[in-house]
Amino acid sequence: MMTATIEAFFHNPTSTLSYVVYDRAGGHCAVIDSALDFDLSSGVVSTGFADQIIDFIRSNQLSLDWILETHAHADHLTAASYIKSKLGGKIAAGHHIDDVQATFESILGMEDDKADGDHSRTRFDHLFQDKEEFSIGMLTAAVIETPGHTSDSVTYLVNQNAFIGDTLFMPDFGSARCDFPGGDAKQLFESIQRIYALPDSTRLWVCHDYQPGGRELKYQTTVAESKQDNIHIKGETLESEFVQFRSERDKQLNVPKLLYPSVQVNIRAGQLPDAFIKIPISKTF
Ligand SMILES: [Fe+2]
Repeated sequence: MMTATIEAFFHNPTSTLSYVVYDRAGGHCAVIDSALDFDLSSGVVSTGFADQIIDFIRSNQLSLDWILETHAHADHLTAASYIKSKLGGKIAAGHHIDDVQATFESILGMEDDKADGDHSRTRFDHLFQDKEEFSIGMLTAAVIETPGHTSDSVTYLVNQNAFIGDTLFMPDFGSARCDFPGGDAKQLFESIQRIYALPDSTRLWVCHDYQPGGRELKYQTTVAESKQDNIHIKGETLESEFVQFRSERDKQLNVPKLLYPSVQVNIRAGQLPDAFIKIPISKTF
């Protein structure tokens, strides 16, 4: 089996991990979950972080086959379209991104896109089905649908490496929230069972690390470690326990600072709106 080589990049402002997965011999790669720099106060969008990824791909003379999203992120803006404009490659996500697009287009009044015949759905080059296989050069990859945090969440399995998005975090940080539109704690439990059904030695690569207690950055664990140590869900945790815990906890969480900017850009595969980002208001009086 061809070995997958993995390079991780940490986006400090949003605690996001982006990965370049590549087949060193063949010189092909995929980017998983990239990020733009975005200053909420000024609205300035910049590409310092994405440029580090681009520089890495160029300096290793890799050709970019895929720009993959594990889900429509709610806390950072994807650099997928920017990276594609520099290096080519196909932007892809799970096909349930359709549901996320429909939900947020209506919350955010993005119907203009549709009126122009320029619907956001067309901005992805490919939408994956569950269990679909694809290749990154000589590497074989597979998609596992893992909804719960969002309805479109998928895991990308490349050999013994699972890129799990926000399904699980490092064992000392637990699991992702399920209270966004389309999120569902019961579905997340079932999705985690799909991950826990992979061989114990499977390496899990997380999409965020919040460095609890100020510990050093970590972003890779295994199925065995997570089953044994994950503070929210161990191998033997019951569905009812998890769903109750997750639902209680989600009630206490604040809305992510970049929720609306992120979703607006991410359901368009990282294409920025012409001039403005919208924030829907809700009156409490
Ligand atoms: Fe997320």
